[in-house]
Formats: sequence, C-alpha cells, structure tokens
Amino acid sequence: MMSLAERAVQVLTTADGREKTRLARAHAADWFAARAAGTPLPIGHSAPPDSPARPEKPELLQPRDMPKRGSGSLEGRLALLHAVAHIELNAVDLHWDIIARFTDTPMPLGFYDDWVKSGDEEAKHFNLVSDCLEAHGSHYGALPAHAAMWRAALETKDDFLGRLAVVPMVLEARGLDVTPGMIEIFRRAKDTQALAALETIYAEEVGHVAYGSKWFNWLCGRAGHDPKEQFHALVRRYFHGTLKPPFNEEKRAEAGLPPDFYWPLADETAVKARGV
Ligand SMILES: [Fe+2]
Ligand SMILES: [Fe+2]
Repeated sequence: MMSLAERAVQVLTTADGREKTRLARAHAADWFAARAAGTPLPIGHSAPPDSPARPEKPELLQPRDMPKRGSGSLEGRLALLHAVAHIELNAVDLHWDIIARFTDTPMPLGFYDDWVKSGDEEAKHFNLVSDCLEAHGSHYGALPAHAAMWRAALETKDDFLGRLAVVPMVLEARGLDVTPGMIEIFRRAKDTQALAALETIYAEEVGHVAYGSKWFNWLCGRAGHDPKEQFHALVRRYFHGTLKPPFNEEKRAEAGLPPDFYWPLADETAVKARGV
C-alpha cells in the first residue's frame, strides 16, 4: 500500500493541473476512509522534488513583467481568475510538499489530517476556478503567470517552522486580507459562478491559516520556544516581501493569528520598503 508520503510525491511529480488535483482528491479520500476505519495509512518517507512538476503552459514571468489589467473588463476579470488558479495550483503543491518533506519530524496524526484536508481543498479550489475560466472560453495556461511563487518553499525546504511561518501564516493569511475585495469585483460583475468559487475559497482558507498557527504553536511549545519571537525571527529570515495593512483582523483572529504577530513586522517592512 502506498504511504502518505509516496502519495504526496506522486501529486508533486504530476504536471497537469487537472490530473494533479484528481490525484490529490483521491489520496485525500483514501486517507480519510482509512482514518474512519481505524486503520490509518502509513506516513512513510519519500523525498519530494525541490520544485514540483508543472504544465508547459502557463508561461512563467517575473512579477515586474506581468501585464497589468484593470478589473472593470471581462478581460481583466479573467486575468484575475487566472492568477487565482495559479495561486491555487501552487497551494496544492505547497500542502502536499509539507506532508512529504518533514516526515523526519514525528508529528501526531492530526497534523496529517489537517494538511491532507487542506491539500484536498486546494485541489477543489483549483478546479472551481479553472471551471470559471472554462465557462468563459478560457483555461488555466491561457495567460502568463508569476514565476516567483515557489521561492518561499525552496527557502524553507529544511526548516519546518520556517515553512509554517511563511506559507500559511504570512502568504495564506494575506489571502484573507485580499479576497473580500475580489469577491466584490465579481459580485458587481454579476458573475455568480466566480462569486461562489471565491466565497468557498475565502471560507476554507481561514481553516488553512488556523492549521498553520495551530501546528506552529504546537511545535514551539514542544521545543520550549516563545511562538511570537520565533515567528518574528523566521519571517524576517525567510520572507522578503512586505506585510501590508489593511489586515483582515477579524478573520486573522478567527485563524489564531493575533495582532502582535503581524503588526510589528508590517511596521518594519514598511520602513524597509521606503528605504529609510
Ligand atoms: Fe485555496
Ligand atoms: Fe489555502
């Protein structure tokens, strides 16, 4: 029987988005069926690739080379949905990567429950957004996409706590800040399919940030570290962007991310960005 780590590597080494997400969803169903039967799948060990397999399209561009489009036109909204599809496909890989990459650190099964569940939800998100693109005669791969998205994963490939700090607690938390604005764009455009997809994503992403915070705190507690100090040190080390207000304080709180985790970093990165 394939271990969970081997299944995660199979997701990571599958290039096509629809096939990658089909596998992710099938492995998640197997995991939870085995858990319900009281016979959990073995976690096992399997080395994940440094970077996951990706389809030939979309072409990956540096963020500064990405074409800018307003969201007032259908073309602009399709570009926005395409960017979301790309984020979701990266999220699929990020979730299955963390499952396979840190198996040398013994973790309770509940950790894998949380990551398999969110890895399944990311696969669903990619499919929902791809369906929206296809309903408008487009598809994932029709436009260029950001090249830099795997950087955080590479830089934290040997640092479990660093990965949790940067991916769910900074990048996915940022998703909570910006998604309400996107939802408004599609509400105004009366695109009910995209609206429903984004509302599902928004609701489920709170859980992903919460899992990050939960297991970050748990690992800090096991090691006897102060979680807030660890978080600040790791974000300073591995995150090169800016933490930009306004923050979604309410959803961040719901996800177990208190203001004294992110506000001090926001002030620092704002000073750095101004070159003061
Ligand atoms: Fe997602
Ligand atoms: Fe997520």
